[in-house]
Amino acid sequence: MKFDFKLATVAAGFLGYVFAQSAERKIAIIGAGAAGSAAAYFLNQLATEAGVNVNVTLFEKTNHIGGRSITINAFDDPAQPFEQGASIFVPINYVLYESMNAFGLTPRDPDVGSDPVMGIWDGNSFVFTINENHPEWWTNLKILLRYGPTAPQKAKDLVTATIGRFLQMYTPQFFPFESLTERAEQLNLTAVTGVTGQHFLAANGVGTLYANELIQSLARVNYASNLPNMHGLCAMGSVAAQGAIAVQGGNWQIFDEMAQRSDAHIQLDTAVTAIDKDSSGTKFEIQTTSGSTPGTPSTYPTSFDNVIIANPFQFSGISVGEDVFSTTLETIDYVQLHVTIFTSTKKFKPSFFNLPSWISAPGAVLTTLAKTDTPTSGPDGVGKPGFWSLTTLGKATNPQTNQQENVYKIFSPEAVTPSFLSDLLGGTVPSTFTGGSSPISWYKATVFHSYPKTSPRTTFQDPIVGEGVYYTSGIEAFLSTMETSALMGKNVARLIVDDILAAGSGSGSKMVKSRESDSERDSQGVWWEKQSVLN
Ligand SMILES: Cc1cc2nc3c(=O)[nH]c(=O)nc-3n(C[C@H](O)[C@H](O)[C@H](O)COP(=O)(O)OP(=O)(O)OC[C@H]3O[C@@H](n4cnc5c(N)ncnc54)[C@H](O)[C@@H]3O)c2cc1C
Ligand SMILES: *[C@@H]1O[C@H](CO)[C@@H](O)[C@H](O)[C@H]1NC(C)=O
Ligand SMILES: *[C@@H]1O[C@H](CO)[C@@H](O)[C@H](O)[C@H]1NC(C)=O
Repeated sequence: MKFDFKLATVAAGFLGYVFAQSAERKIAIIGAGAAGSAAAYFLNQLATEAGVNVNVTLFEKTNHIGGRSITINAFDDPAQPFEQGASIFVPINYVLYESMNAFGLTPRDPDVGSDPVMGIWDGNSFVFTINENHPEWWTNLKILLRYGPTAPQKAKDLVTATIGRFLQMYTPQFFPFESLTERAEQLNLTAVTGVTGQHFLAANGVGTLYANELIQSLARVNYASNLPNMHGLCAMGSVAAQGAIAVQGGNWQIFDEMAQRSDAHIQLDTAVTAIDKDSSGTKFEIQTTSGSTPGTPSTYPTSFDNVIIANPFQFSGISVGEDVFSTTLETIDYVQLHVTIFTSTKKFKPSFFNLPSWISAPGAVLTTLAKTDTPTSGPDGVGKPGFWSLTTLGKATNPQTNQQENVYKIFSPEAVTPSFLSDLLGGTVPSTFTGGSSPISWYKATVFHSYPKTSPRTTFQDPIVGEGVYYTSGIEAFLSTMETSALMGKNVARLIVDDILAAGSGSGSKMVKSRESDSERDSQGVWWEKQSVLN
């Protein structure tokens, strides 16, 4: 919804204030993933509430809104979408959860829950399995027998305490924030990010076997890394992902709705290639290329007062002129993750997992290191299993046979080979993966820079990286999720609106008081509250 000046004047008049239309702030957002879309959405919302004028342009180099939140269509049929990138979130992810509800989108169970049996595979055997169809007491007994009486509760308490600290970031006392490093310190979260997941769990009395098997398997499916190679907050985030949901039809729709409702000028298929100060030295001029086959960059006709870089800068292909940044943007090591999604009528072969033929293999296979592995064994530490996870996403109808087939997803550090798939499914998978007598009917593989490799750290790239220039992706080394990126987008939106208000009250020209005395406008906070009641 666009800020309606007339309506706001009436509303403001009712409260006793008249706002002269402020000079509009032109803002460029680069990237329409979770962070960029949320920034656009909350800029519109917060500016409307504050009665200031923003004019936002959202640049996205692909033709798709959502970034790494993206679906893929089984059998290339748009009626059968599955999550290819970010798949799950939890109800305490307030930005996503509340937006999903506000936009009338429908939550559903995540794909990975579609098979009742989950096993933790170490490349030799299943060290643990859980069958959802078994009674809970049976599962609890199994956990008790293998991991002892205290580990699960200790882990649970630790997650609750850590997430509790993180959730304070949403409270007025801690939001917005100009420095993520400072906030992390204030919330004592640097004590969690400054040590490895392994260390954090051990220091808090969580048993080694429980950590190495149950928690590490979740850490590996969430962050493609082992506990000794990731920091404590990532480890905690992985465990907290239990009880997760997804959006019916695709998580990307939350960000698409945010972008559409933001009233921003949305420029799809438009990559930003350069940011420079303009001749006045106060505004930013940007270069873009458009179309799927990028041509020569041209100068975008509008200059901007603010620029929000809402994607990992090192992969953005943006060159930046002198004086744009006042700090160096750190290059972060990202995980390279191969995501392979395919369909087959076949189930996983028990013999692949050294199981006898009469026992069926779990439909969800998480992994951990074998006893003989080190945390850095194999490519990226994947160890003996060779892959991070192997899950059954659900069923899809093969249009050629009209039969329902299984949809599978593999996370691996290297490309999946036909011989691996032949072993997994039986039959012969050709080098083309599909065709002939292949057990695979449809196949798509993609490589992502999925998330940072989060070795322990206590400082983070802060969101203000130059005068008028903001950056959202620094939060990924703290915790990489759709929610944290969206929260950072909202944070930056709030910082900009606060900046506009501060500039306005400084000059005194943008806010013209009419009837009531100063004492009645006791704080902007109160005014915002009244304004949102009227909205
Ligand atoms: C396989 C996979 C699984 C994941 N699972 C989960 C999960 O289950 N739950 C969860 O919460 N998170 C998950 N994540 C992480 C999550 O996807 C990211 O944390 C989140 O998408 C980051 O959002 P973002 O907006 O910061 O960046 P992105 O989503 O990467 O969006 C950045 C956007 O900027 C665009 N862009 C880049 N350069 C330019 C340019 N020069 N000009 C214009 N546009 C540009 C890109 O095209 C992209 O659309 C997963 C990620 C992957 C890859
Ligand atoms: C901060 O966290 C560490 C690690 O969990 C803990 O040992 C310490 O007591 C905490 N300090 C405060 C002030 O909460
Ligand atoms: C916003 O900026 C664009 C580009 O400079 C301009 O075309 C448009 O008229 C401006 N105003 C509004 C209300 O969109």
